[in-house]
Amino acid sequence: MRTWQARFLFFAVLNAAVQCVTSLEEELSDSILGNFLDPLKDLLENNHDSNTAIAKFFLRKPSYPDNDLCYLIPGKPESLTACGFNSTAKTFMVIHGWTLSGMFESWMPKLVSALHERKRMANIIVVDWLGSAQNHYVIAAQKTQAVGQEVARFIDWIEETTNIPLDNIHLIGYSLGAHVAGFAGSHTTNKVGRITGLDPAGPVFEGKHAHRRLSPDDAHFVDVLHTFTRGSLGLSIGIKQPVGHVDIYPNGGSFQPGCNLRGALEKIANFGIFAITDAVKCEHERSIHLFIDSLLNEQEVAKAYRCGSSDMFDRGMCLSCRKSRCNAVGYDMSKVRRARNVQMYTKTRASMPFRVYHYQLKIHFSSKVNTSQMEPSLTVSLFGTNGEAENLELQLKEGIVSNKTHSFLLVTEKDIGDPLMLKFRWTETNSWSASSLLKIVSSWWSGDSNSSNMEIHKIRIRAGETQQKMVFCLKDPNAPNPTPEVTFVKCKGTWRTKPRQIPQKISQKNKSQRKHAAELPLAHFSR
Ligand SMILES: *[C@@H]1O[C@H](CO)[C@@H](O)[C@H](O)[C@H]1NC(C)=O
Ligand SMILES: *[C@@H]1O[C@H](CO)[C@@H](O)[C@H](O)[C@H]1NC(C)=O
Ligand SMILES: *[C@@H]1O[C@H](CO)[C@@H](O)[C@H](O)[C@H]1NC(C)=O
Ligand SMILES: *[C@@H]1O[C@H](CO)[C@@H](O)[C@H](O)[C@H]1NC(C)=O
Ligand SMILES: *[C@@H]1O[C@H](CO)[C@@H](O)[C@H](O)[C@H]1NC(C)=O
Repeated sequence: MRTWQARFLFFAVLNAAVQCVTSLEEELSDSILGNFLDPLKDLLENNHDSNTAIAKFFLRKPSYPDNDLCYLIPGKPESLTACGFNSTAKTFMVIHGWTLSGMFESWMPKLVSALHERKRMANIIVVDWLGSAQNHYVIAAQKTQAVGQEVARFIDWIEETTNIPLDNIHLIGYSLGAHVAGFAGSHTTNKVGRITGLDPAGPVFEGKHAHRRLSPDDAHFVDVLHTFTRGSLGLSIGIKQPVGHVDIYPNGGSFQPGCNLRGALEKIANFGIFAITDAVKCEHERSIHLFIDSLLNEQEVAKAYRCGSSDMFDRGMCLSCRKSRCNAVGYDMSKVRRARNVQMYTKTRASMPFRVYHYQLKIHFSSKVNTSQMEPSLTVSLFGTNGEAENLELQLKEGIVSNKTHSFLLVTEKDIGDPLMLKFRWTETNSWSASSLLKIVSSWWSGDSNSSNMEIHKIRIRAGETQQKMVFCLKDPNAPNPTPEVTFVKCKGTWRTKPRQIPQKISQKNKSQRKHAAELPLAHFSR
């Protein structure tokens, strides 16, 4: 590893650390910014541009996904015939990113195989720009434009030679390769059909003008997966800003399950910066594996949902599919083009298939007197027609206050089918002293209708994947058992965003209706 590469990696990686571990922040950011940013700026200002960027194009066969069996040489139509280029089939061009090793990484044959698996007849062209990609990051980043232009010339040549419709061309670029794809798309004579950006590289591109990075102008449809975005200091391995027509941020765009970046960050003190390089690679590369997943597991396609922010998504507020608010993650995404970029979110598992099932839980906590904010730890078990998902923790984004509807996101790894029953419980929480916890537990669901009690009338659930809306009511309103757990069962009821309004004036004849409304079972808990 050359010094500069090593330093850059240090920088990028440390930057990630700075974003997450506040205790390290001050200590690190000073030294990092002082030591590394200045030379980085020098490099950026120096124009290392040269015309030596060379891209090679290989057509890969399904039987040998990791061998470069056949070169396509612009200007030599016979190479197309020799390699068996099929001008009526779809054409994928896979573009790698920055490399330390100077070799294709192990994901390349996996992606090529998955593309073949999905589209038997497709032409799969691997763009090899390893020579330039092996440079210091900043130089490799600068070369993306020249490489992109070369890819564009290649595409123009293919179009002239074979007359293939450019709508059949799909560029898939990872990291720096996503920007290569962007430059390629902006330099072709006619627009290509689609560009998929897999965690497009952030450093040097973040905040740049659309002409200097991947952007929605580069293809008829540009979709992007962001899996490692971090950082207010301006640098993050993956680009944070939306750069396509649709940008998906799985798990908020960082901390991918199974990559254990958090764990690695904790080890930093003992094992140094290298403790986290694997985790960093895992997060960045997750974008590719999500895409591979979407090619291989067509039946289990993960859904992403349009949302104003990651925080709102984490509260379960964005699981609607109306007006194409949701879409498939990866290959099967339907092409929606809007005037404005669409940002979408999804949660995933730690391994393939990555899909999870999303639920929104809306719970109205009511009480007659004002209670101070409560921050219990809430756990839910869901039981459905196909199975159950137990002890799922509800993420509390804010303390629970009385007379307010709180919304939560719940995900299950397996498909439980149609939810039928729900168990809701308090569990121990650090922020509460043992004694106050005991008090809550012992008075939980005491049936006591004293004025200080909190009540839950019902729990409303919206399932993202099926778009079902359900209401759950207390199973046994007179349960004598003062356990901290209550059971709700599916019941008839309307799924409303506002609590039912009871008319102010009710005549005698209408009293029966009112009675019915008042008979809704309540779950009580007091402090
Ligand atoms: C070329 O691709 C088309 C469409 O996928 C397919 O129908 C045809 O059989 C292919 N031709 C050859 C020679 O493989
Ligand atoms: C909550 O709403 C109920 C019914 O509308 C009302 O009686 C009660 O006083 C409210 N509690 C608080 C704390 O505002
Ligand atoms: C509860 O507190 C809010 C403000 O915190 C206040 O507006 C409201 O009147 C209070 N309600 C009762 C019943 O004390
Ligand atoms: C309600 O609370 C008061 C004290 O705040 C207590 O004296 C009373 O017994 C309680 N009522 C019930 C039904 O537990
Ligand atoms: C009962 O309530 C409905 C509205 O819910 C109202 O239109 C109707 O007039 C009421 N009936 C009587 C007898 O007051």
